[in-house]
Amino acid sequence: MSGPAADDRAPTSHERQAGQHWDASYHDGPAPWDIGEPQPAIVRLAAEGGFTGVVLDAGCGTGENALHVAALGLPVLGVDVAETALAIAREKAAARGVEAEFATADAFRLDRLGRVFGTVLDCGLFHTFDAGERRRYVASLAAVTGPGAVLHVLCFADTGPENGRGPHPVSRDDLTAAFTPGTGWHVTAVTPERILTRFDPDGPPAWLARIERL
Ligand SMILES: C[S@@+](CC[C@H](N)C(=O)[O-])C[C@H]1O[C@@H](n2cnc3c(N)ncnc32)[C@H](O)[C@@H]1O
Repeated sequence: MSGPAADDRAPTSHERQAGQHWDASYHDGPAPWDIGEPQPAIVRLAAEGGFTGVVLDAGCGTGENALHVAALGLPVLGVDVAETALAIAREKAAARGVEAEFATADAFRLDRLGRVFGTVLDCGLFHTFDAGERRRYVASLAAVTGPGAVLHVLCFADTGPENGRGPHPVSRDDLTAAFTPGTGWHVTAVTPERILTRFDPDGPPAWLARIERL
């Protein structure tokens, strides 16, 4: 599998399954999850004050959620491994006059950013990881957050139809099992939600988890 030249990471389980680098998802028009606006669940979360401090959007794609939060006046960094998605996100930021940063980074090596965040958003990334990848990701998130930081995970739930559950459907128990106090995290709420897609405007069932850094 070939990827961008600067990409020194091993393919993820999803990339191996799909047989292509994540970047390829953005080559031929919008990807299924790329709905051209922020996810309604994230808009509600933002309206309720769910984002504070410097915000990291892990696996930001073309940046709709990051740009929504940035437009509220918060400093936001969106990171992704897909250069094409990041280029689109930067174009949108410039066209909308919204100040937001977008950078190439591997979610398993967030420590390389050398930065610390008050809130982390994961919209559709966690559910692409298998169990081993989740462990590495959780540790990576801990490396860029301090006590009191909040992580929001919006992921496909295991309760939806089989073709709407994403690569690795997530149960409530999966969330609490991944973010145990031993990992430096504590799940404070898991709420039923929806993730809209281009093919399902009502969106398959999802979980919105609020997870606090200990
Ligand atoms: C399902 S998409 C969701 C994109 C965006 N959050 C949204 O809601 O439109 C998952 C995103 O995670 C990115 N991604 C996958 N593995 C990654 C990794 N190891 N590090 C950083 N980003 C990753 C993909 O390139 C893709 O843009």
